[in-house]
Amino acid sequence: MAHAILTFGNLTAQVGSTRTKLQIMSDLFDAHPYADRFPVNRTLPEHGRPAEEILAELRALAAEEDTAWEGGQCSGTMYCGDHEHYAFLTEAFGLYAHANALQRDICPSATRFEGEVVAMALDLMHADAAVAADASADPVGMVTSGGTGSILQAMLSYRDHARATRGIERPNIVRPETAHPAFAKGAHLFGLDLRTVPVDPVTTLVDPAVVAEHIDENTVALIGSAGNYPYGTIDPIAELGALALDRGVGLHVDGCLGGFILPFGEELGYDVPPFDFRVPGVTSISADTHKYGYGLKGTSTVLFRDRALRTAAYFHMLDWTGGKYFSPGMEGSRSTGLLASAWASMVATGRAGYRTHATAIFETSFAMQEAVRSHPELRILGEPTFLFAFTSEAFDPYHVADHMKTRGWRFNGLQYPNGLHLAVTRPQTQPGVVDRFRTDLADAVAYAGEQGALPPTSAAIYGGIPGGLTPEAEHMIGSMMDQIMDAQLSVPKA
Ligand SMILES: Cc1ncc(COP(=O)(O)O)c(C=O)c1O
Repeated sequence: MAHAILTFGNLTAQVGSTRTKLQIMSDLFDAHPYADRFPVNRTLPEHGRPAEEILAELRALAAEEDTAWEGGQCSGTMYCGDHEHYAFLTEAFGLYAHANALQRDICPSATRFEGEVVAMALDLMHADAAVAADASADPVGMVTSGGTGSILQAMLSYRDHARATRGIERPNIVRPETAHPAFAKGAHLFGLDLRTVPVDPVTTLVDPAVVAEHIDENTVALIGSAGNYPYGTIDPIAELGALALDRGVGLHVDGCLGGFILPFGEELGYDVPPFDFRVPGVTSISADTHKYGYGLKGTSTVLFRDRALRTAAYFHMLDWTGGKYFSPGMEGSRSTGLLASAWASMVATGRAGYRTHATAIFETSFAMQEAVRSHPELRILGEPTFLFAFTSEAFDPYHVADHMKTRGWRFNGLQYPNGLHLAVTRPQTQPGVVDRFRTDLADAVAYAGEQGALPPTSAAIYGGIPGGLTPEAEHMIGSMMDQIMDAQLSVPKA
């Protein structure tokens, strides 16, 4: 399971058919495909194995799994795909893999890397405009473990800052329904009430007037995405910023996905409205170095217009028997290697490199969108750029996914409405991929048109049904997800 977002819909209340579909799910998510090919370590071995033997095993597994995306047919997931860049980052990582970023006295280079990653990300997000607009603004940030880490950190900051400055004890946040589940996770972890605003089915964007209706005296932050995960579209950040300022609440812009590519799309003349600190009212932004920043997995940035918001979630413990303790984010010890490799990715790529990659990605995405638009049965959702999604009123779009899968394509599934999305990344910009997409899509549309009322296979996992799930189906799917997670944390049964 390459992505944590799985939507399990399209299940009926009848236990029988639900079971059938759950069987499909468990077949698809075989957690232990290597059980028959490699020894399973059920106990700590008494004697260690030779390093070369271990590395040979790892190389074989990694090379095999890389074939799933190297051809450019997998949505998102591998944003860079350049093995030379990976080798370079791995060397940078390796130099510091063992060093602890918590111990800055013996590892001051962690501060160089983290400080500069944050400074470069603030530069990209036009933090200078925040200072130009208000000399007392003091933009800062931190490096976290990933997009979810950045969003959680921001939500913690809003909660604690609002408690300290506004006396709010029952905080809430207001999000478009398209906002990433990390906001719901943050609400769950930190005791925030999550208020959800539906989006327009055609534009896929929230109406700021409806967002306004959800704000009250306990609202600590609004959420907007640039772009959102389902459709890649950009929420009306300028209007949300004005609303946030008017109502005295924060506005977090989720640029986890778009933060390192949309600014270059804007420079290239694509229709990308400002979503960063140039927009009055934007108080924090998340932008992932491990997505379109082309870093190794495990880093993201969270940026704040004002230092006070970041400081609100700092942690220190002065009376611990182990000494006085402090750490700025969720983690305690973490590898300096992650900071070094994120830094290395940014300074090796530079603005010119990011612009070049963005050019290829935008051109590829628009060429693929043109292929989708050439089929009247398919409808692109909203006005996307580097990530596009489509649905169909003529047939269940999961039939398209089913057929494309036989040709090696891996889309991400959407629900409400059922649809598919493709986050275009550098592997898709290789010669021949767009042509392959065009041909395979035409065949898939023809196939989908022939299926009539037959249910698509992949809808059992991703698709939704109008009206949502019955409590019984919800319970069963929840248990199934628990079982998948249990399996992912286990060795195969003996
Ligand atoms: C818009 C958006 N926000 C947040 C996230 C969460 O990022 P991560 O999976 O790195 O935690 C994602 C992941 O795809 C995303 O697309």
